Amino acid sequence: MSTWEKGYFTEENSVEVVTNRNANAKSERLKEVMEVVTRKLHEAVKELEPTQDEWMEAILFLTRTGHTCTDWRQEFILLSDVLGVSMLVDAINNRKPSGASESTVLGPFHVADAPELPMGANICLDQKGEDMVIGGRILNTEGGPISNAVIDVWQANDEGFYDVQQKGIQPDFNLRGVFRTREDGRYWFRAVKPKYYPIPADGPVGQLLGHLGRHPFRPAHLHYIIKADGFETLTTHIFDPDDPYINSDAVFGVKESLLAEFRKTENPQRAKELGFSEKFWEVTHDFVLAAHPKRLRRTREE
Ligand code: BEZ
Ligand code: FE
Repeated sequence: MSTWEKGYFTEENSVEVVTNRNANAKSERLKEVMEVVTRKLHEAVKELEPTQDEWMEAILFLTRTGHTCTDWRQEFILLSDVLGVSMLVDAINNRKPSGASESTVLGPFHVADAPELPMGANICLDQKGEDMVIGGRILNTEGGPISNAVIDVWQANDEGFYDVQQKGIQPDFNLRGVFRTREDGRYWFRAVKPKYYPIPADGPVGQLLGHLGRHPFRPAHLHYIIKADGFETLTTHIFDPDDPYINSDAVFGVKESLLAEFRKTENPQRAKELGFSEKFWEVTHDFVLAAHPKRLRRTREE
């Protein structure tokens, strides 16, 4: 198809001229994506009317963002996080049936090969921080227990660092573990109370937050990936509702249903049973998994 019929590029017909040039795109989805992105981008430029210097500043910002990426650091994902786009994509792709636990961002600190541990193990390997015991049940939307659910958990330490950020300071796999439920669907493990921490703020995204008058902190949380046969995998967190940043997470990951109660407990007998020396924190949180769509279909057909 000829693109000539749309005429030369003008301020008024800019969107049509550009999108018409993509008429022979090899993928309909790519064509659709570029049509929407072109339309919205031109709309923004027409509304903002940037100067040449401002446009160059935007281009140099994206250039610095790219240059900051390495095998270990993905500054574009961080940009998507602070713009709320990661949470939006997560919301669109994880619409849950009522009653199922909500998801939130994965974040960059998951490690695929964390060790599988016996239920109740202490994932804190350096004895630093305030003791904490966390437990609950993995349930289906009918309230029944899910057995053989695999719970992959990781968290920052009491200074707000993950083990992978402090190689040689924290032991490898500190504050990480994988647990497997039995018939009762129960899980529990020991850890330490996590602390809020800044997302990597020494690059262009951190500078952008500074210019916008925003802080880079995420409220204290524990990460979970929960998998079970026949159920949708749940990637989520639980948050400390008393954290100073609970209402201003730098990446918008907090949801009301993910606020857990962190209770300070003084019970010498129980502390002794848990191997804790004194007061400790106690968190109880159940997770509800949505049935896998294929399983739902099968159940309906049965
Ligand atoms: C995290 O929770 O690990 C995280 C999420 C998004 C950006 C940075 C860190
Ligand atoms: Fe995190």
